[in-house]
Amino acid sequence: MPGSEHADRTEDGLSIPRHRVLVTGATGLLGRAVYKEFHNNKDWHALGTGHRRARPRFLRCDLLDEDAVKAVIRDFRPDVIVHCAAERRPHVVERNAEAAVDLNVKATATLAKEAAASKPGAFLIYISTDYVFDGRDPPYGEDDTPEPLNLYGKSKLDGEREALRHCPAVAILRVPVLYGEVEHVEESAVTALWDQVQEGAAGSCMLDHCQQRFPTEVRDVAVVCRALAERQRQDPSSVRGIFHYSAKEQMTKYEMAVAIAQAFHLPASHLMPLTEQPAGAGARRPLNAQLACCRLRQLGLDVQPRPFRTAITDCLWPFLPDKRWRQTVFF
Ligand SMILES: NC(=O)c1ccc[n+]([C@@H]2O[C@H](COP(=O)([O-])OP(=O)(O)OC[C@H]3O[C@@H](n4cnc5c(N)ncnc54)[C@H](OP(=O)(O)O)[C@@H]3O)[C@@H](O)[C@H]2O)c1
Repeated sequence: MPGSEHADRTEDGLSIPRHRVLVTGATGLLGRAVYKEFHNNKDWHALGTGHRRARPRFLRCDLLDEDAVKAVIRDFRPDVIVHCAAERRPHVVERNAEAAVDLNVKATATLAKEAAASKPGAFLIYISTDYVFDGRDPPYGEDDTPEPLNLYGKSKLDGEREALRHCPAVAILRVPVLYGEVEHVEESAVTALWDQVQEGAAGSCMLDHCQQRFPTEVRDVAVVCRALAERQRQDPSSVRGIFHYSAKEQMTKYEMAVAIAQAFHLPASHLMPLTEQPAGAGARRPLNAQLACCRLRQLGLDVQPRPFRTAITDCLWPFLPDKRWRQTVFF
């Protein structure tokens, strides 16, 4: 393993990255972007872990296996851990509560303990969610009292508390609904709207127009993670506790779908706003859990979010059904 504090040089004069970062959930939507952000920077040596999709690119490590987690941290000796792995689908958390709590809470506690116990101690970035708030009184600052409405939000809040309890060098980074480069459109709640946008010929399509969201691109979150890690290397005490990061464009699912249709010059007349919340439909979700990003701004680390229409076009164009359309839209 290369030395962690100073850039080393090989006999050929090649520089070896200074710092090591371990990214959990590197096979997931956010983890892929975070891994790439560090991997593409010469100052960092990144190791990504995954579970079912880990091989061949990443290290397979079941975070529920404490011995496996200990071994990875002992062998890799990370300076920074960005903990992205989680069960983040609210309906799956409700259905498989025990397994989800094991991953979102217990595995976080294990990682936090191991980060603190490693020498000289790793800085842990724990990715959390705006769903820790009930959405009744936005915007929410970092010091506002969380009040999750569903088990997913509660499990992430419990994960935050475990991270803070066991690891002195920890940053909790809360983010809203995410989108980005996807393996399939259903991978993110935002890109999943692509199916409804394309259903033009099949009749009208009702989309939620009550819950206010702030869709945020994973590459922007990844830049924030690296900025936090680098600031922590320079000034450890300034990067501790809770941080919020969010894009600024406020949209319901209906508005996101219309924006996607417009970005691709597709019809939107079949998209209809649903202005009442259906009663008893699955896990409860906050109406508006807007995050105020004051602490990142104070540190000068508030990354400018990409505009939704440009970024969503980047993510969805590979799913255009017909190559001729791609030429019409982009060239
Ligand atoms: N997506 C959103 O809209 C959103 C919004 C707010 C906050 N967040 C938070 O952002 C973080 C990243 O979310 P995401 O959307 O990137 O999640 P994701 O795409 O569902 O990825 C989940 C990751 O967890 C890994 N994983 C699952 N079980 C594991 C286990 N037992 N051991 C090790 N790894 C395991 C998965 O690995 P394999 O796939 O290889 O099994 C995958 O890499 C989460 O903390 C989430 O709560 C997400």
